Amino acid sequence: DNAIKQSMPLYGKKVMVTAGPTYEAIDPVRFIGNHSSGKMGFALADELAKLGADVTLIAGPTAQKANSDLKRIDVVSAEEMFNACTSIFPQTDITVMCAAVADYRPKVIAGQKIKKQESELVLALEKTVDILASLGRDKKANQILVGFALETNDEENYAKGKLEKKNLDLVILNSLNDKGAGFKSDTNKITIFNKTLERTVFETKSKTEVAKDICAAILKIIK
Ligand code: CTP
Ligand code: CA
Repeated sequence: DNAIKQSMPLYGKKVMVTAGPTYEAIDPVRFIGNHSSGKMGFALADELAKLGADVTLIAGPTAQKANSDLKRIDVVSAEEMFNACTSIFPQTDITVMCAAVADYRPKVIAGQKIKKQESELVLALEKTVDILASLGRDKKANQILVGFALETNDEENYAKGKLEKKNLDLVILNSLNDKGAGFKSDTNKITIFNKTLERTVFETKSKTEVAKDICAAILKIIK
């Protein structure tokens, strides 16, 4: 048993994966969120665990269930996800930031339910912390950091920009222009860029198969 485990390609590696959306509270009954289902992140966490990694999955609000043996930390807001990520990141060998983190949150969270008025309602929003960019700044030479780029236009340039700006080893471009790609779909279509901006284009596949392609790209840079 032990011999089998030790022969697995990611045996002994500590891996962190984030998945799902974040919810940013407006008042006790409302939030700002997005349509991320968490499927891609959970599929990735499962595949990485199957390769023998010691996986911690940090999950925003989602109905997904992990199949594999992994540690799961549930969070709600971008701030909670940031706190969980920064506490675990120093011990990780590989981090994959798959979560659809909210970019903005209400500046103030109303203590009571906001009542409707005759006038229109204007919400002031402030930026959340860019978790991935923050991890990229703290990254040590032996750590691998993988991010996603969700784009609708000029996608390759934006993806490459994120790779460089956030100090990533790989960026997974998820183009919402492609049929069979995106948040609610069971399939996805990705393009991977590595640090040297080498591009690999993949066909539309199930999210489990996409997760395997991403794992293969990670294994390639470990060797
Ligand atoms: N991300 C993050 N923290 C945020 C926002 C994004 O860690 N507050 C991460 C996402 O998990 C993803 C990557 O950054 O891995 C890119 O997210 P994306 O939304 O595509 O890009 P942004 O940098 O947020 O820029 P924009 O939404 O304007 O395209
Ligand atoms: Ca964003």
